Amino acid sequence: MDAALLNRIKATLEKHSPEQIKYDCPKCEDRGYIFKIQDGYEVAVACECLEKKQSIEKMERSGLTEAFKQRTFKTFIVSNEWQLEAKAKAMDYSKNFKETKASLMLSGQPGSGKTHIGVATMLRLIENNTGCVYREYISMLTDLKQTSMDEEEYIRSLEKYINPPVLFLDDFLKGEPTVADRKHVYKIINTRYLKSMPMIISTEKSVKEILNWDEAIGSRLIEMCQGNVIEFPRGLENNYRLRGVI
Ligand SMILES: Nc1ncnc2c1ncn2[C@@H]1O[C@H](COP(=O)(O)OP(=O)(O)O)[C@@H](O)[C@H]1O
Ligand SMILES: [Mg+2]
Ligand SMILES: [Zn+2]
Repeated sequence: MDAALLNRIKATLEKHSPEQIKYDCPKCEDRGYIFKIQDGYEVAVACECLEKKQSIEKMERSGLTEAFKQRTFKTFIVSNEWQLEAKAKAMDYSKNFKETKASLMLSGQPGSGKTHIGVATMLRLIENNTGCVYREYISMLTDLKQTSMDEEEYIRSLEKYINPPVLFLDDFLKGEPTVADRKHVYKIINTRYLKSMPMIISTEKSVKEILNWDEAIGSRLIEMCQGNVIEFPRGLENNYRLRGVI
């Protein structure tokens, strides 16, 4: 047999040989479920790859940009007591989340790592297959205000902030909140409160300042947090952006 023909036969055989088929998950051959014998019956059960696949999809829907995906617990450098405590508390919070369904408040100094810790926490929750969406408070407000004239559009906007199983609202109460803002904020927070849907909130305001601004909103948030409030101490020396300068 000539060499060219031999090679062609070999190539064809390889293409059709079962070992050559590359599955992402060889265990279930990408079906997402496997068969098991339970009580004498063959039943289909979810394959472990399914959770991973769903978590990748959740990651894609998370609203996080590439740069934000680098903000993990691993990349959060601990060089003092309060950073150690903040990281440990947030990691504990993530670990217990499935039981507690609690919210998390990150409050204090600008540049101290609140957003970093918040993103690290939501990435951990996504790994554990909880859907989390990141939104900036300011752009949420703009969105709600812009659509509030049209009922249908407004409802569609509200859904973006009400539907995610966990909503990370970054820079809560940034700027000077107006009376009109309060109505929108109340709507989101009260709806999530009534549905027991947790939030991660980062804010430069203290708990006291939030309560002074609006007790109804503040007290709901505090209740949802079940004690998961992390204080980032004030002081320019705690602003990571200024390290080496101050
Ligand atoms: N402990 C830390 N280790 C590594 N990077 C940090 C740390 N704290 C803050 N950063 C980085 O510094 C920048 C500012 O932090 P950020 O989380 O945005 O602060 P905040 O939200 O409190 O204003 C970000 O790029 C963040 O990743
Ligand atoms: Mg921030
Ligand atoms: Zn599988």
